[in-house]
Amino acid sequence: MTSEEIRKKYLEFFEGKGHKIIPSASLVPENDPTVLFTTAGMHPLVPYLLGEKHPLGVRLVDVQKCIRTGDIEEVGDSFHHTFFEMLGNWSLGDYFKKEAIEWSYEFLTDQKWLGLDKDRLAVSVFAGDSDAPFDNEAYETWKSLSIPEKRIAKLPKKNNWWGPAGETGPCGGDTEMFYWTHSTSSGQAGEEVPESFNDDNSKWLEIWNDVFMQYNKTTEGKFALLTQQNVDTGMGLERTLTVMNGLDDNYKTDLFWPIIEKMEKLSDKKYEGENIKAMRIIADHLKAATFILGDEKGITPSNTGQGYVLRRLIRRAVRYGKQIGLKSFTKEIAEVVIGIYKDVYSELSKNKDFIFANLSQEEEKFEKTLENGLKEFEKRYSIRDAYTRIISGLNAFWFFSSFGLPKEVFLDILKEKQNSEEYFKTHLKISDQFNQEYDEELKKHQELSRTSSAGMFKGGLSDAGEETKKLHTATHLLRQALENVLGEKVMQRGSNITAERLRFDFNHDSKLTAEEKQKVEDLVNQKIAENLPVNKVIMKKIDAEKTGAVHAFGDKYGDEVSVYFIGPSLEEAYSKEFCGGPHIQNTSELGTFKIVKEEAVSAGIRRIKAILE
Ligand code: SER
Repeated sequence: MTSEEIRKKYLEFFEGKGHKIIPSASLVPENDPTVLFTTAGMHPLVPYLLGEKHPLGVRLVDVQKCIRTGDIEEVGDSFHHTFFEMLGNWSLGDYFKKEAIEWSYEFLTDQKWLGLDKDRLAVSVFAGDSDAPFDNEAYETWKSLSIPEKRIAKLPKKNNWWGPAGETGPCGGDTEMFYWTHSTSSGQAGEEVPESFNDDNSKWLEIWNDVFMQYNKTTEGKFALLTQQNVDTGMGLERTLTVMNGLDDNYKTDLFWPIIEKMEKLSDKKYEGENIKAMRIIADHLKAATFILGDEKGITPSNTGQGYVLRRLIRRAVRYGKQIGLKSFTKEIAEVVIGIYKDVYSELSKNKDFIFANLSQEEEKFEKTLENGLKEFEKRYSIRDAYTRIISGLNAFWFFSSFGLPKEVFLDILKEKQNSEEYFKTHLKISDQFNQEYDEELKKHQELSRTSSAGMFKGGLSDAGEETKKLHTATHLLRQALENVLGEKVMQRGSNITAERLRFDFNHDSKLTAEEKQKVEDLVNQKIAENLPVNKVIMKKIDAEKTGAVHAFGDKYGDEVSVYFIGPSLEEAYSKEFCGGPHIQNTSELGTFKIVKEEAVSAGIRRIKAILE
């Protein structure tokens, strides 16, 4: 059975039961600023579920395009998608549980409709809690349709309650239908159907959900009875199609297979082994991107709202494309997507040029970004030594602010690195507060760009925090340069940093000659020009001492210390110091180092003041 046949049969079946067909609403909700996309068929119908009269009456049926990005990490398995179509039938204060369940069963099992094997069906119903009672009516209705008791699970809110879609709104207990999908990839019947339903076994694939929306979740978190009892059902078209064709993989159906074939051709690689995941992600994401761009709302890739989701989808696809050797391919994939859907969603052909232009442009932009980001990542994290590198949210944010590398992509690259070699699994560690650190940095960044665009820093003063960070890193370089030029007995005696300058005190018996000063300055600037990464490792104090990292004499340290090093690795570092930070990420950010003053503070102690230009 084709996807086209299923859509047609569904609409026809419910039309026969007195429903009026309504078209799919836009992927971008009209009147709901709290969500970015239409995530379910009920979304555009919320006002009617709350009691407003629908012009077409109380029974409706539709095929709604949806985007859900909450599960984006799951995409890559055989049945999770960001874009999908939902078949839905609606009762707006008309029929309720009995009819909804009986019609679901008839549509699924009757030979005239889907004709699925009723012996491979299982269902779940709401078990009841303090908000709403056990759904005995649903339970009894399924029993009357000869579903064995062992295949009717009573499950809690976590499983059998749907909505509201946002914080508040219509919701209710539901009953879900599952089909035993286990078959071999050649379509042959696989394992026997188990006697009872088990929620944990993903071979029981959820295909349909009938929600009995009779509650309204209020702002106080209460469940108030609605003025009318509604039915909201949602049947995943992609999954149903898979089941109908005895397959175990949504990507092998007509809604995806042409895309996979195109990728096989472009990459000269088969849909097998480790290519499977990448091909699935690309197919899913570019399909979603094509639909968002084609949605007539003129959404383009950007850094906020829907545009950000779009950007993320395209960039993730491009990155996985790289993994299977694809380049400049997004437009060609979109062409196939449009081909699959052109008869159902005419907006895609209509907006074809807009779709192609935006995909290609974003792809090109990201290619550049990725190249630079990956190079930097390799430079920074490919070093093998005895130390564990702590990767903080700050590190990841720097990759974003300097290279446009999104957090997810950064984490993807890291995960891949860790999977490629056992060494990196044990030696690259995400900091415990990674997300918090990232979000805080992001917030600071946003605030900063807001204040600076509001003209607060018109005088040319940039962020004081950033400047002191830079000067702090420059101080480390200076200390090392002094040691190189004047000899190992140079020791730090004091340091003070403001947003404008650094001040560094050290022991040395005589005034620095002009030549010495020049040498120190040149050396620091040379290190800046080498674009050296700045990294932190956490280690036991005794191990840290063995690395030769310098630390302020007499300072107290705990058993574990953090060591900042400037250079490709701890071994080859130009500078290493016990230090609490913070530092900038790469010496390339520093500009030009200049000594503005060199003087005596007391006998044997000299002071340097320096700036960055
Ligand atoms: N709203 C329910 C769902 O999305 C049924 O359509 O699953």
